[in-house]
Parts: sequence; structure tokens; C-alpha cells
Amino acid sequence: MQHLRIKSLKEYKETYQKSIEQPEQFWDEVAKSFLWKKEWDTTLEWDFTKPEVKWFQGGKLNITENCLDRHLEKRGSKTAIIFEPNDPKEKAQHISYKELHAKVCAFANVLYNNGVEKGDRVCIYMPMVPELTIAILACARIGAIHSVVFAGFSANALAARINDANCKILLTADGGFRGDKVTPLKSIADEALKSCSSIEKTIVLNRCNLNISLSENQVWWHEELYNVNNKFEAVAVDAEDMLFILYTSGSTGSPKGMVHTCGGYMVYTGYSFLNVFQYKNEDVYWCTADIGWITGHSYIVYGPLLNGATTVMFEGVPSYPNFDRFWQICEKHKVNQFYTAPTAIRALKKHPISMVEQYDLSNLKTLGTVGEPINEEAWHWYDEHVGKRKCPIVDTWWQTETGGIMLSSLAGITPDKATFATLPLPGIQPVLINEVANVIDDVVAQGRLAIKFPWPSIARTIYGNHERYKDTYFSAFKNMYFSGDGALRDADGDYRITGRVDDVIIVSGHNLGTAPIENAINEHEQVVESAIVGFPHDIKGTALYAYVVLYNDVSPSEFLKIEINQFISDKIGPIAKCDKIQFVSSLPKTRSGKIMRRILRKIAANELNNLGDVSTLLNPEIVEDVIKGRL
Ligand code: WTA
Repeated sequence: MQHLRIKSLKEYKETYQKSIEQPEQFWDEVAKSFLWKKEWDTTLEWDFTKPEVKWFQGGKLNITENCLDRHLEKRGSKTAIIFEPNDPKEKAQHISYKELHAKVCAFANVLYNNGVEKGDRVCIYMPMVPELTIAILACARIGAIHSVVFAGFSANALAARINDANCKILLTADGGFRGDKVTPLKSIADEALKSCSSIEKTIVLNRCNLNISLSENQVWWHEELYNVNNKFEAVAVDAEDMLFILYTSGSTGSPKGMVHTCGGYMVYTGYSFLNVFQYKNEDVYWCTADIGWITGHSYIVYGPLLNGATTVMFEGVPSYPNFDRFWQICEKHKVNQFYTAPTAIRALKKHPISMVEQYDLSNLKTLGTVGEPINEEAWHWYDEHVGKRKCPIVDTWWQTETGGIMLSSLAGITPDKATFATLPLPGIQPVLINEVANVIDDVVAQGRLAIKFPWPSIARTIYGNHERYKDTYFSAFKNMYFSGDGALRDADGDYRITGRVDDVIIVSGHNLGTAPIENAINEHEQVVESAIVGFPHDIKGTALYAYVVLYNDVSPSEFLKIEINQFISDKIGPIAKCDKIQFVSSLPKTRSGKIMRRILRKIAANELNNLGDVSTLLNPEIVEDVIKGRL
């Protein structure tokens, strides 16, 4: 696929132009460099009013042939995955394309023997070990739909996701290592399974030797492998068949199971990986995300493997055993492209610069960030101390819903600019929308970010709830996909993301909806109601601030705060715990009863001079009280 790599600014401009003037021809050409079992009949059919988007209809393929089989002849012995364990004393593993192919086929046989067929949903709740990638690919090999649930989620959150997708099989591990902790995944899964009747079998990997026992319908991963060979013919699926479901937070209600399909997702993640990171054949690429999130799906697993790249998988955390772990790994594996989150950069930046400087980072060519806006200071630190001012930084804006990177510079090809995601990738047509829902034509502008034409990896629906998909993304502006983010555009046409404009809060790069956290708090028997907002935080970017109303006869206490956080941890997971919990006598509300989060957000951020008009509130007098009790 190297011929698809854009090699100059001029070429980017020409390619971009073509991609919007003749999108179908453009994507046709890109798609042709993949392996199809049968070519497609129509490149694109779409109607954002339904909404319906279909790419490469009539085409048949299997994405794993593109990730694996296709590379065997030329680079079968090339390392596909470098696995770096949590404990630096444990040896790293190098898995070649040939070995990965064999392992995926073997595990596809295991799944098949356990009743998995094309179209079945398989829930994967696993630590960051190679078996996770193998499991994902094995599902895809069969044409089964994987639903990976981040291994930091609680039993409740896991159960909700299993039930929403009606998963048939659960893949998990005894535990997962993360820093000096072991997460007891299997016992969390057992708790979840009490309310999941659709799961027929659980396959358990022994990662931590926790000495657990299995119950009925639970089998050991390694024992299942005794009985299979490593051949498995890739099942031909339709381009528009589902490849996976991945849950993301919404501003209301339950998490949304975003559905991605096989053909378009393959074409877009493969193409964007190559161009954004400017991956060349012998490079070692490392994305520090967790595969439980979209970044891991698209740019640890699929994008790199589609390109025959060497992708590093790291099991641990940036702080273990010390805050130099990332840099030590970069040196050890001679990493060329390094892709991480602003929150990690901010955390590492707090430590002495010698932590970075003691390592040889001379192999680094490209740095990347994703997940939230990066502040100026963090950007410059990253540029100076990690990239030594010689590595372009790609600030990649995208979403679970978009499947792949939408706005970003192309490393070393199009210019980067501190705190700007910069320009759209070929095929992406961003627009800014003003308060009255019109497209802003001026180049210099600020507004809500929408996309006016489909691209191959746009999510096709929310699993089991197409209406919600339509409402959330296609009802705000006619004939456009609305991202939920705000952005500004400067005189160069470069975009800078200013943050969410809805009730999703990004904490340490994790997408959290306010509603599920509030629901968790409200389940506490001493709580009447609550409101969650984000406030600026040095390391997390944004942290959570909870305003909680208690019943009259309850006295506020530190103990109650701990209990409330425990509730959140149990219902959603530790990532959603609140940094600050303020007890208030009531919440500011509009006359229609809606919580005025705007005011609460400003109070939490200590922006007290510009609270705006509070006179329209149902209970304006409460605002003073809330300010007085501010933490
Ligand atoms: C935010 C992660 C600023 C944004 C791939 C988006 C960003 C949400 C950036 C999606 C960036 C992601 N600059 N903000 N480079 N990248 N975001 O679904 O608010 O976990 O809507 O996908 O993260 O988060 P998600």
C-alpha cells in the first residue's frame, strides 16, 4: 500500500481536491489496493436523512486476509506485534506475521468449536496482552462481531454491554496486570454474568496465575487450544456486514454501541494510518492507548496490521515501575512513531526532565496525540523534550463514531501547529456551524463542527437503536453528521478543537457521559439528586465535580463522599470517580426543570464573574449558596 502514501504538501492538496470533487473515484482507487474476495458493485450509496451510508456494496472480503494472509509471502517473518509486558523484568515477545496468522487461525477454530458463527456477538473483556488482538482477529476471521469492553469497567457496566448486544460468548482472563495492581477480571466477569443470560460459554485466559476455578460453561483458553490446528479459511463477508460494536458514552442514558462495518472501516483505517503517521516498511510504531477504546481498535490493531507494520502493545501504565517507562520502551524497541494522549504527556511532564533525557530517543520520527485538546505547554514540552524539535506532531481529531482520524497533519508532509489538529484528511469535508444552524462560509470562524459528506469508516448505526443514532448525530443540522465538538478555524484553514458542546466530559482522554454517573450517584439511598460537570485539571485535562443533594435528615460527611465514589466505581468503574463532591441544598434549574449545567460548570471552574443571566432560573437564590460552598 506504500504507493498510497502522500509524499508532499502539493500532493496532499491535489489528493484532497480530487477526493472531494470525485469522492467515489477517489475511494475506488484506494479500495483497490486491498484484497477483496469479490469486487464491489457500487462504491457509495448514502442518505443522511435516514440516515443510511453504504460503501462498497456487493464487495466481499475478510479483513484478516488483509491484516495477515496478504503479508505472509513478502514479510511472513517480519514482527507484527511487539508485546511489552507490565513488568519490565518479564521478557518482551516478538510475534511475526506468520506466527500471528497461525495463532489467529487456531483461536478461530476454538471459537468455532465453542459455537461461534458468522454474525454472532462475542464480548471481549481482557487485559492488554497479545491474546486480545488474536481474539479480535479470530472473531473477524469467522465473520463474528467483536464487542471489546475496556478492562477497567465494573461488573455492572460489563453486564449492560453484554446484554445490549446479546453476546453469545465471553472472552476474559483470570486477571490483568496494571502497574502494581492486579484487576480480578474473572471475578468481575462472574459478577456480571449473574445478569447475562445470553452468554453460553466463557473462555478464560490464564494471564496472572491467580489460581481461580471455572464453573460450568467456562473453559480454559490454553486447554481449548490443545484440540485445534492452525488453519482456518477466512469467511467471506459483505462489505457492509458488521465488523464490531464498540460502546461510547452518550449525554443521556445508556452507552451507545457504535457499529462499524467491514469494508469501509478497513479501507479508511488502513489509508489513514499510512498517511497520518507516514509509516515506512521497517518502522516500529507504538500507540499507547488501550484496545478497549477506538484508538486501540483502529491504530494498534487494524490500521497497522493492514499496512504490514510492526505494532507495539504495552500491557502496563506510564508510571510503573517509574515515570520513565514510556521512554524506556521507546529506546528498547527503537520506536519510530509514538502516539499517546495529552493526559499522559501532562502527567509525565511533571517529573524531572532527566527521566526523559537518560534515554536514546533518536529513532523517533513522528509523535502523535489523540483524545482531547492538547494545551500549548504540553505540546511544546512534547516537541522539545521527546521529539527534540525534529519530529512532527500529529494532533489527530476523531471519534469512536468516525472510526478513523478525520483532522490531522500528515507527519512531515503538511505543517503541524501547536494545539491545532490542522487539516482534514482526504475525503473528509468538515464545516463549522453557527448558532442558527447555518454553515459559516468565512475562513476564520468558530462554531460547532460537522461533516457534510460520508467517509468510509463512519459508524453505520447504534446497535439496536437506529433512532437514537439519527437523533444524536443527524438531527442537529440538516444533511450533516454532527460531532458534538466545537472548533475554530484560522486564516490558514487549520482547525482547532475547542471541546465538547454537549454533556460528554473527557477525563484523561476517557469519554464519560454525565447521565450514567449521575444515575449511579442517585442510587445511593441518601441522595436525592446530583449533577456532574467537568473542571480544568492539570493532569487529567478535565476532572469531575459532583454537586449532590442529600435528603434533609442526612448530614454531609467525608465518609459519604467515599461511599458515593465507591458507588460510581461499582456501577461504571474507577475512571468515573469524582475529584470533588460538593453537597448542596438544591440544584439550579430552568423553569422546565432542566439542570443548568452551564452555571455549575462555571462555579466549578471558579469563573464566578461571568455566570450569565441567572434570573430565568426556577430557583435563582440557590446560586449564591452553591458558590459559598464551592470546593
Ligand atoms: C475528543 C477518541 C481535541 C473530542 C479517538 C471527540 C479530541 C472525543 C481529539 C472522541 C483531538 C479526540 N483534539 N479533542 N485531537 N481527539 N478528541 O470517541 O471531544 O474516545 O469528540 O475517540 O474526544 O472520543 P473517543
